[in-house]
Amino acid sequence: MTSNDPQRSTRHDLDPHLQRYAARAVGMTASEVRALFAVASRPEVVSLAGGMPNLAALPLDSLSAEVAQIIATEGLTALQYGSAHGVPKLREQICDVMALEGVTGHPDDIVITVGSQMALDLVTRIFCDPGDVVLAEGPSYVGALGTFASYEADVVHVAMDEHGLVPDALRAALAAVERAGKRAKFLYTIPNFQNPAGVTMAVDRRAEIVEICARHRVLVVEDNPYGLLGFDGQIYPALRSMDADNVVYLGSFSKTFASGLRVGWALAPHAVREKLVLAAESAALCAPTLNQMVVSRYLATHDWKSQIKSFQEMYRERRDAMLGALEQHMPPGCTWTRPDGGFFVWLTVPEGIDTKAMQPRAVTERVAYVPGTGFYADGFGSRQMRLSFCYPTPERIREGVRRLAAVLSEELQLVDTFGPAAPRSSHGPLTPAPDTE
Ligand SMILES: Cc1ncc(COP(=O)(O)O)c(C=O)c1O
Repeated sequence: MTSNDPQRSTRHDLDPHLQRYAARAVGMTASEVRALFAVASRPEVVSLAGGMPNLAALPLDSLSAEVAQIIATEGLTALQYGSAHGVPKLREQICDVMALEGVTGHPDDIVITVGSQMALDLVTRIFCDPGDVVLAEGPSYVGALGTFASYEADVVHVAMDEHGLVPDALRAALAAVERAGKRAKFLYTIPNFQNPAGVTMAVDRRAEIVEICARHRVLVVEDNPYGLLGFDGQIYPALRSMDADNVVYLGSFSKTFASGLRVGWALAPHAVREKLVLAAESAALCAPTLNQMVVSRYLATHDWKSQIKSFQEMYRERRDAMLGALEQHMPPGCTWTRPDGGFFVWLTVPEGIDTKAMQPRAVTERVAYVPGTGFYADGFGSRQMRLSFCYPTPERIREGVRRLAAVLSEELQLVDTFGPAAPRSSHGPLTPAPDTE
């Protein structure tokens, strides 16, 4: 027997470091989204899986001139280390961006991060000990679930409906956590055009949710990368605008400007901001100075509001293509959400179909999606999938939905003939309301 024998190789042969990993590394596995990346990016496959922003509308010529100008005139600063707190001018400009959502933050209370993903990491790092509870909508953003797992926090999901997080479900979750003698450290929520569900928290729920959390002494972490991407130009008030003392707001330029620059931020209550700066320093020393200066220059010299408007229009056209195709092709029994912004539709399929088990068949039929189980920490979501409309053209979206509907119809026939696949898990708490069917 050799260790190359695939029949006989053990986990230790595959990774001789297995015994050495910290406990928090053991659960680190590729997310369903990442695992799909290779197949989904084959040209013949219509990918409704990835959530990459579509940058085609960016003014590349003027941006390259700006970057050249920054290096020519401020190169020694732009190419140097900066402070972990972030470039001061950019922090001031971020206050103007957040003012659109009613937030009145001070530039000192902002920490610039390498995307809001890093902000999520820092917040979890400073608040969560192993076994602490993080409350999160069910379903929730894969990248956040990965971060919570890496700090060995326990995620307790809170149900949503078509109006976002349900306040009564939050009360019940808090009561259950308290009964179990555990500590809920924060509520993680994506109130606008949620990833993956595509729903938005109703305005009249926001103050209630903020108030419940304050009463239970649970911090709110408001993750808002899509807030300015409402398809009718609507902008919802941030939770942070309702309670500056108990809400950490996470923002990002990834969806409204350029994801590859990796510039995001956290606006935190003053004492928390101190800890975030220290944590940022130990994680990365500072976010890239050049990238921060590029964003700052872009905000100062470009009509960024008009640019966001053209992103809104492009994504709205794609959303319409997806909703129209779903209406036209989906077999009876499927339901889906109807986002009014952002990138995602959340589809629920009839009983008996397991979206993860169906996935290889869908890829064979040249369409990719993300199975719902990846968006839950507790195995829910087997009858759900996330469909992204942000990247492919409207024609490709229509074709992708047509292919997906054909796969689902065949799968349903199999269920009719042979009975349902053995259930792996029940479906998640997000039950689309009748008007989303
Ligand atoms: C809800 C949510 N939060 C955070 C992020 C991370 O964004 P970034 O690190 O690019 O700012 C994403 C990216 O898709 C997201 O969907």
